[in-house]
Formats: sequence, C-alpha cells, structure tokens
Amino acid sequence: MTSQTWNAELYDSRHSFVAEYGTALLDLLDASPGERVLDAGCGTGDHVAELVRAGVCAVGVDASPEMVERAAARFPEIEVSVADLRDLSFREEFDAVLSNAVLHWVPEADRAAASLHAALRPGGRLVAELGGAGNISAIDSAVRALRAERGLPGPVSPWYFPTVAEYARVLESAGFEVRAAWLFDRPTRLTGPDGLADWVRMFAAHLLADVAAPDAFLAEVAERLRPTLYRDGSWWADYRRLRVVAVR
Ligand SMILES: C[S@@+](CC[C@H](N)C(=O)[O-])C[C@H]1O[C@@H](n2cnc3c(N)ncnc32)[C@H](O)[C@@H]1O
Repeated sequence: MTSQTWNAELYDSRHSFVAEYGTALLDLLDASPGERVLDAGCGTGDHVAELVRAGVCAVGVDASPEMVERAAARFPEIEVSVADLRDLSFREEFDAVLSNAVLHWVPEADRAAASLHAALRPGGRLVAELGGAGNISAIDSAVRALRAERGLPGPVSPWYFPTVAEYARVLESAGFEVRAAWLFDRPTRLTGPDGLADWVRMFAAHLLADVAAPDAFLAEVAERLRPTLYRDGSWWADYRRLRVVAVR
C-alpha cells in the first residue's frame, strides 16, 4: 500500500476542488449507460456516484481504507473496495478506466499502467488526469529553499510528475495506444485564508518532515509565496496537469 495517509473528512471539507475539477474528465470519458467503468483511486466516491446516477455500471477502488470507508458511507448505493491499483486482480472486466488525481501518487508508473491495461477489455479506454511535469513547482521550490536555509535535508518526494513523452512511453510500453495527451497549467483556487498551509498539510506532508515548528515554517513559506500565489483574496496552487486518453 502507499505510505501517504488520507484524512477523508478533511479531504471533503477543505479540498473538494479535486473531485470538482474531475468532472471535466467525466465529460471526456463520456460513458454510456450500462458500460462497465472502474474508477482507479476513487477517493471519497463522488465520480463513482455520479456515473452510477447516469446508469453506468461503475465501481471504485482505492488504496486508502479511510477514503473507501467514507465513500461507502456517503454513497451506500455504490460499490467501492480497498485495492492498490499497482496490483489489481481484474482481467478484461471494464470498458473504461477513469482516474483523477491519483497516478502522480504512484511512482511505479509501469506497474500501474500494466495493471490498468489488464483490467480493460481489448478496445477499452483509459481516461486519466495526474500532476504533470512542473506541477506545483513554485510551492515545492519555496519550501525546499526555506528547508535548505534552516539546515534541513531535502525532502523525499512521493510524487511522479511526468512529461507527455515520458507518460506516453509508459502507456505504450504497457500495451496502450495513446490517442491524446495534454500538459496544461491549471491554477487552482485553494479554500480559505490558510489555503496554502492547509494544502501542504493535506497533500505534501513530506515537505514538513523534520520541521520543528510547522505552523511558523508554513507562515514563512506563505509570506514568500504571497506575491506570486495570492490574488483576488485567495491562494492559488500552481497546478500543471497531464490529461491522457489511451486505448487497450
Ligand atoms: C487526490 S485523491 C483523488 C481521489 C479522487 N479520484 C477524486 O477525484 O477526488 C488521490 C487518491 O489516490 C489514492 N491512491 C494513491 N495511491 C494509490 C494506489 N497505489 N492505489 C490506489 N489508490 C491510490 C489515494 O488513497 C487517494 O484517495
């Protein structure tokens, strides 16, 4: 299983923008009623529930028991289970795989792609979005600079943010035909006056490893990033996304 732990309640209350942005991916998926769809890394279940409401035979898997438990509690009508998408046991069972904001948490990209490929029937499609090359580089650089000034070691990143070419190679090596891939900037509004600090605590705990006073550290990071990432009364994360459509 993955080393990251997920606070499912906090995810929904302060970071619901992740699932909200994923609705564009549902449009791209364009699933028909009756199609069998796997949401790989379903989180707290919003996309599975939306697909099921549209008559799609959708199921979700996620490596985090906390996320799966919350998904099942929020949407008793959906089927969700704990599974690691690197080692799925599905064989040619799905017409499509959807995956939003998950695959950058899986540095073993070749293993994940092979597992998703095996889950699809021949001709089935993968529609996915993940952090792409350069994702949150302003936040990452500011934290790394401050850590260096404080004599702290460079943090070990749990993320994989590939370029279009790198990820196309991963998918093609797994047997997919890549139909489309986009890398695009998507500045993302964070929730509340402490949005930046909340985001780091939720998604980037590794950046705070060995930091003795995290609140003061994050306040300093926020001051440094305010000129670039705070505007119109909100914090904006410098997201850069990689979206792919590929066919088995
Ligand atoms: C940012 S959340 C996105 C959840 C959901 N797709 C959404 O749009 O709200 C990332 C999710 O990926 C899951 N995840 C990370 N690594 C995974 C893995 N190896 N296998 C399955 N799920 C994984 C996490 O548990 C978490 O629920």
